[in-house]
Amino acid sequence: MSFSRSIKIAPSILSADFANFGAECRAIEAQGADWVHVDVMDGHFVPNITFGPATCAAIRPHIKGVMDVHLMIAPVDPYIDAFAKAGADVITAHLESGAHIHRTLQAIRATGKKAGLAINPGTGLDAVPHLLDLCDLVCVMTVNPGFGGQKFIASTLDKIRALRAMIGDRPVHIEVDGGVTVETAPLVAAAGADVLVAGSAVFNGGSVDNPSVYGANIARIRAAAEAA
Ligand code: DX5
Ligand code: ZN
Repeated sequence: MSFSRSIKIAPSILSADFANFGAECRAIEAQGADWVHVDVMDGHFVPNITFGPATCAAIRPHIKGVMDVHLMIAPVDPYIDAFAKAGADVITAHLESGAHIHRTLQAIRATGKKAGLAINPGTGLDAVPHLLDLCDLVCVMTVNPGFGGQKFIASTLDKIRALRAMIGDRPVHIEVDGGVTVETAPLVAAAGADVLVAGSAVFNGGSVDNPSVYGANIARIRAAAEAA
């Protein structure tokens, strides 16, 4: 995974057909997805439950590119190896997931995978300078985690801008996650984001039998971001 700050669209399979993940991953990649964003939820850290390492392992063969695993779980540490073995390329943990996020990021890096740090809308950036050397990606949550189809929280734009300044020319991606649409994509790109997660804005209206809708949605989000 060589580093580039070019715009990457990462559809979230939280908005996909849960009975057909393999075909859905193949469809979004064929239709232009750069990364596949995989939302793991435990019903404890967030008020929703999705799936675990076994599902990640099952969909891995259907993803040619980057499998971007977003862990909305607490604790994280006992499960890092399982997600690494399942084939995740990026493993992102929430700053808020426990008292020892520095150790968690060290443990992710120790597996050889890329390490991501996710930050909820109510959390500031004050801890980030102490963690940046352990990060390949910082994910700014632009909704409160747990569900797709929520409204973009515009106050997070200042946080994205401040994070972009903090990162400078370090090879660290800024991922934005939640409420990314054709309307909000240019705002987050202009603020400094390079990985745009989009669930409902990509999947809504399409299906594995009508994947061109996915492609049109991805292309429109990308064009809007790149025009920023
Ligand atoms: C929310 C997830 C997001 C979500 C994005 O907890 O982390 O990745 O699936 O969905 P949209 O793009 O519909 O807001
Ligand atoms: Zn996510």
